[in-house]
Amino acid sequence: MSIERTFSIVKPDAVAKNLIGQIYARFESAGLKIIASKMVHLSKEKAEGFYAEHKERPFFNDLVAFMTSGPVMVQVLEGENAIAANREIMGATNPAEAARGTLRADFANSIDENAVHGSDAPESAAREIAYFFAEDEICPRTR
Ligand code: TYD
Ligand code: MG
Repeated sequence: MSIERTFSIVKPDAVAKNLIGQIYARFESAGLKIIASKMVHLSKEKAEGFYAEHKERPFFNDLVAFMTSGPVMVQVLEGENAIAANREIMGATNPAEAARGTLRADFANSIDENAVHGSDAPESAAREIAYFFAEDEICPRTR
């Protein structure tokens, strides 16, 4: 076990449905600590840069349109195996395939409006955290 950081987004569909608190409660109940957090309304450029790895995919333009359709919450989660733990809390990309009790099973509208983002590996976690947060916006816990 190792203490990791991961990057998470509460996407526009979930913010619009007033689910920020319920989603944060799932992270906290699972032992993940929120060590940075803010609300932002992504520009087209910011969303395109964030999802650059998907820019050749057929869903890319719709994904950027969705992610810029309203405000999101961005956060850094810290805890034991945080990257995998958060992916487990989230559930599969397609809510129809997401395990019972996961965020996407409970809250996602569809595969393209699926409530949350979470980093998938240590490299993407580091890149995504730095894409949204300056070092002095991250507050590691001392108690
Ligand atoms: P991906 O990185 O594959 O999924 P995840 O968010 O689980 O890491 O895809 C990024 C986002 O792109 C996904 O959350 C929703 C959107 N997307 C679609 O709209 N349609 C699709 O067929 C796929 C695979 C993703
Ligand atoms: Mg992904």
